[in-house]
Amino acid sequence: MATDAEMAVRAAEDFRIVRLVVNGEARSGLAEPRTLLVDFIRHELGLTGTHVGCEHGVCGACTVRLNGHLIRSCITFAVQVEGQEIETVEGLAPGADLHPIQEAYQEAHALQCGFCTPGLLLATQSLLEENPAPSDAEIREYLAGNICRCTGYTNIVRAVQIAAAKL
Ligand code: FES
Ligand code: FES
Repeated sequence: MATDAEMAVRAAEDFRIVRLVVNGEARSGLAEPRTLLVDFIRHELGLTGTHVGCEHGVCGACTVRLNGHLIRSCITFAVQVEGQEIETVEGLAPGADLHPIQEAYQEAHALQCGFCTPGLLLATQSLLEENPAPSDAEIREYLAGNICRCTGYTNIVRAVQIAAAKL
């Protein structure tokens, strides 16, 4: 983590100071105008739960929430979120206990390698906020933008149903 003095020097060169709220906490870091939000989150803020997959907005691995809405952080520049609010998977369960959605994924064996899981957890959170009792078809449609190479999706749908019952 850079000190304030170091940030001032680097910011005077190619970098901008980006201030934002992450998982309810005020954070700041340095970003070039071209720095992707996912790289800023992972490398500048040290929150490596957000994954980088396709890097062109297709797979959903980099999903975070911006002001409560799902976005792809691989096709968003860090400087675009200045002053705004981001939620990452780390914010789901800040303490030692799992969030009910995480418990549901664990109970349903809804992950194998886990690469897609952070994005799916946040997408599930948004789905259940919008539709607390979705049908299996509605779950599949909502999560269609989050690609999983391992599970075949059946257990993911089951996890969302379990999470819906818990919340
Ligand atoms: S890494 Fe962002 S959508 Fe695939
Ligand atoms: S669990 Fe491996 S990509 Fe989904």
